[in-house]
Amino acid sequence: MLTGNQIRKEFIEFFKKKNHKHFESASLIPDDPTLLLTVAGMVPFKPYFLGQKEAPYPRVTTYQKSIRTNDLENVGRTARHHTFFEMLGNFSFGDYFKEEAIVWSWEFVTEVLGLDKDKLWVSVFTTDDEAEKIWIEKCNFPKERIVRLGEDENWWAAGPTGSCGPCSEIHVDLGPAYGGDENSKLGDEGTDNRFIEIWNLVFTEWNRMEDGSLEPLPKKNIDTGAGLERVTAMVQGKSNNFETDLLFPLVEEAGRLTDTKYGEDKEKDFSLKVITDHSRAVTFLINDGVIPSNEGRGYVLRRILRRAVRHGRLLGESELFLYKMVDKVVEMMNEAYPDLNDNLEHIKKVVKIEEEKFSRTLDQGIQLVNQEIEKVKSEGGKKLSGDITFRLYDTYGFPYELTEEICEEKGVEVSREEFEAKMEEQKEKARASREVVMEKGQDSFIEEFYDKYGATNFVGYETLKETAKLLSIREGKDGKTLMIFDTTPFYGESGGQIADTGVISGNGFEGKVVDVQKQKGIFTHTVEVIKGEAKEGEEYLLEVDEMNRLATAKNHTATHLLHKALREVLGTHVQQAGSLVNGQRLRFDFNHYEAMTSEEIEKVENLVNEKIAESLCVTVRNMSMDEAKKEGAMALFGDKYGDIVRVVKVDDFSIELCGGTHIDNIAKIGLFKIESESGIAAGVRRIEAVTGLGAYELVKKMERTLKEIAKTVKSDEANVVERVEKMTETLRENSKEIETLKAKITNYEAGSLNDAAEEINGVKVVIKTFKDKTAEELRQMVDSLKDKLGSCVVVLASGEDKAVFAVGVTKDLIGKVKAGNLVKEAAQIAGGNGGGRPDFAQAGGKDASKIEEAVAKVKETLKTLL
Ligand code: SER
Repeated sequence: MLTGNQIRKEFIEFFKKKNHKHFESASLIPDDPTLLLTVAGMVPFKPYFLGQKEAPYPRVTTYQKSIRTNDLENVGRTARHHTFFEMLGNFSFGDYFKEEAIVWSWEFVTEVLGLDKDKLWVSVFTTDDEAEKIWIEKCNFPKERIVRLGEDENWWAAGPTGSCGPCSEIHVDLGPAYGGDENSKLGDEGTDNRFIEIWNLVFTEWNRMEDGSLEPLPKKNIDTGAGLERVTAMVQGKSNNFETDLLFPLVEEAGRLTDTKYGEDKEKDFSLKVITDHSRAVTFLINDGVIPSNEGRGYVLRRILRRAVRHGRLLGESELFLYKMVDKVVEMMNEAYPDLNDNLEHIKKVVKIEEEKFSRTLDQGIQLVNQEIEKVKSEGGKKLSGDITFRLYDTYGFPYELTEEICEEKGVEVSREEFEAKMEEQKEKARASREVVMEKGQDSFIEEFYDKYGATNFVGYETLKETAKLLSIREGKDGKTLMIFDTTPFYGESGGQIADTGVISGNGFEGKVVDVQKQKGIFTHTVEVIKGEAKEGEEYLLEVDEMNRLATAKNHTATHLLHKALREVLGTHVQQAGSLVNGQRLRFDFNHYEAMTSEEIEKVENLVNEKIAESLCVTVRNMSMDEAKKEGAMALFGDKYGDIVRVVKVDDFSIELCGGTHIDNIAKIGLFKIESESGIAAGVRRIEAVTGLGAYELVKKMERTLKEIAKTVKSDEANVVERVEKMTETLRENSKEIETLKAKITNYEAGSLNDAAEEINGVKVVIKTFKDKTAEELRQMVDSLKDKLGSCVVVLASGEDKAVFAVGVTKDLIGKVKAGNLVKEAAQIAGGNGGGRPDFAQAGGKDASKIEEAVAKVKETLKTLL
């Protein structure tokens, strides 16, 4: 029997033999602003289908990691729902069409997978006679097991607009035990669990327009997708994907970690399957650079991760366990996705940090729910309102199901409807605000401008000065002017590098360029007019500020060096999470799970400076993505196969895809100095650094501080450390001596207090107030007096602002007076409270001016008690 790993391999080998090029799985983060995550094998190829880009190969095959979360609540409940799954696919970009797609799928399913022909069913789109004919004539498929289905079932589109087409699906019949009867057909009601779709062949030949109409695509294409998990289940004779060898070891691992046996209790199996599925999604999302957060992909990750942790709790697991699942996921998936191994430690750390955080939330949440329940009960109520259940969820991230569970235990009602109504209300609000954002984001001016003139010709890589024709001038914000030219040497802000600054002049006009933004390839210059008036159609001289460009380039090239040095020192899990480069400094955000040690920071800084000292050359070349990968460029999010990319290489040290401006030799950086390293989110660190003159100035500043210190401690720079060490040592000794002296004085003062002892009813009593004694000093005095006098009562107080009291009573007298009571009486007068043991007690009060009054009162009390 084929294993899941073998099926994946066999599929690729099969289509390679049919002249397909095998592409590696693209990132889960698609290079497509309309999609949050890669949801199908065809996602990376959308531009080829639409004819926006020339496909580098006419035939391609992949196993593509994918994530779908539209049915999250069902994952674990059913036999076949997943968040993370793998899609096997073969694609034709204007090459072969229906016949080959159908015949090859048949060949693979029956000859390679060896599925029982008699159990297979096929569906085709209502009007697709051609597909049906191919199935019958080319595959000898029995007509009675071909079913025609409509748009809901047999039309496939990645979204409301874009490429789409009719499809034909292959199904396996599990038999009447799973629904229907002997005569049931594919598509009959109640047979969803019986006929299992394993392969979808989409004949992508249409483009759905905004108005809903269909236009033919420039070429006819094929997009097929077979879910590896379900195919494996069918091959291995399992009615449940989780019981295949692709997933079952994870179910067992989840069971081991949570001390739960699979197959004994339906609800427990549900939780084990949730953990199994989600541990894969979490591992792969983090591996592709996602970090838990409250928006976008980060939020998807957070929800999945938290759902898994919650199911661990439902299984009674209170320890952290999810991060331990990562080891098993990586062990199982490493063969197909070797980069997992490189990032193993990083993935585990990120999961662990979020798991810890959520566990705390859960603990706090449980307390909060209990408090709310108490409150409701004490007010005579019986129900937690939707307001409260929603607030617990929204503000504290506490899952509704847990609120419900605790309420059930405590006999308090909750209403899911009310909770969901609140949720809907909030979604409405979010939708409304999103619409506003969209409206603002849409720049119809740029759209129209682009249609009329196309993109700006950017010449800033080659030159800093250029004459260009002004195509558009309009008013910007705050009295500034927006100008667009046919050509520009000004770099528009992108890839973390800020825009060039400079001057525009000509025809009596002069203006200062303060910003340049790029949209759809159009460079808009924000200009402060110095004099004159510019006119559309005329030519102007555009000059970039050379010093600023050079300083920025130094910082940008240094950022590449820093990136590489971090990967060498900390590990290859380090990935860029954000960057900002300008003429003054560079800021680099990257994935790493803990603060860097000072040794690590020093190592990174050293490595960068060593490279600078080697005066390595920087080369910039345009090449195909494939070539760039061969040269060792790091795979970035949403790699575009076959695209021409700009590759920036620092000798053999660093290679990155980058559109920024760089220096030609890193010696020009001069010096690289890290200013700070800090955390900005869970698992994301930030380094700020300076180069060149900026670094020199930082070093000067440090030198000045050092000189200042040396002067203050009356030493010179060479000996300042020794001098400060000596001073610290002397200080330490002095402090010790002061302590000893203080103790002596206290003792001495206590001694002199002997004489202050008076007698009340034949008992020795010492009552004394001070201004500057600490509570500890008072205690020492009380002890020493008790020792010296043998039998006595001591009442001491001190304070200028706040009052402290200490009272001691020797053991023989505690039958008559108790130190705790006396001190309490005194403290209350001084605006405080306190108490303690019968033989010794201390207390404080807010108001030291009441000290005398307080001790006088105690004296009166003693007169009555002794
Ligand atoms: N795009 C189709 C699907 O996702 C076939 O690959 O089902």
